[in-house]
Amino acid sequence: MPRPIRKAVFPVAGLGTRFLPATKAMPKEMLTVVDRPLIQVVVDEAREAGIEHFIFVTGRNKSVIEDHFDKQYELESTLRKRGKSTELDMLEMDLPGAGETSFTRQQEPLGLGHAVWCARHLVGNEPFAVILPDMIMKASPGCLAQMVSVYNERNGGNVIAVEETPWEHVHRYGVVGGTDWKANHFTITQMVEKPKREAAPSNLIISGRYILQPEIFEILDKKEAGAGGEIQITDAMKKLMEAQPFHGVRYEGTTYDCGDKVGFLAANVALALEREDIAPAFRDVLDQIISTHGGKLTWD
Ligand code: G1P
Repeated sequence: MPRPIRKAVFPVAGLGTRFLPATKAMPKEMLTVVDRPLIQVVVDEAREAGIEHFIFVTGRNKSVIEDHFDKQYELESTLRKRGKSTELDMLEMDLPGAGETSFTRQQEPLGLGHAVWCARHLVGNEPFAVILPDMIMKASPGCLAQMVSVYNERNGGNVIAVEETPWEHVHRYGVVGGTDWKANHFTITQMVEKPKREAAPSNLIISGRYILQPEIFEILDKKEAGAGGEIQITDAMKKLMEAQPFHGVRYEGTTYDCGDKVGFLAANVALALEREDIAPAFRDVLDQIISTHGGKLTWD
């Protein structure tokens, strides 16, 4: 068996300008999908995949994230007094254990590669996962768990989750090209960050989940800027690809790009419709809204 993936890095230093004014005083990672903050949703995905240590690369004005992963004694004692055991149990279950979280800061916005590099001492010399909380996956098992299966099956290496996107959107993402296609994975041979449509090797985009070997830090140490003048994780991975295998995983599930307003709204609708406590009433309301706007929803 390859070395286990015990640690996950969550880059959460971004300013969230696309969601202003919502993100003026609140980190974008605390925006909610139904009633769960984005950051909680991805921590849940990591825990399901066996992650034991959660490393957050934060920035100024992000301390609410640290508070979110702490106990809230006042709230808990009030809930206890009121006999709200369901809510209490939920808070308890959502919380990583004592000593299982670490926080460090990316002091300047120098790019995603730089954010990951900021976690190098916390990760140490072992393979680790990177999860971008903008990308919310509805998948069972979760996307990272599916990647860990491929990692074990391929006896290690680096693993990137990919998915198809319409060609007109490829310029927004990192894009890969590959060979040696298996049922749900393949060998990555090309990688390019935010290419023009004509230069993209495929329409398979890097969808915000990575399993990386620690040698990536040696490459990031050089702090070379790439697309957009930023230190890109994609450029560092491309270099590492000369020395180590990279497996692409076409995971089963649906991705919602919550860095985008439409994707964020879609995630809310999709996940609300999954919830037994909300779905029946929410369907009725959606029906009404859509018909008011001249459309029609058909439910199976
Ligand atoms: C980052 C990565 C890109 C990836 C994307 C997924 O871009 O650099 O390769 O496809 O996340 O969301 P960003 O969204 O930070 O511009």
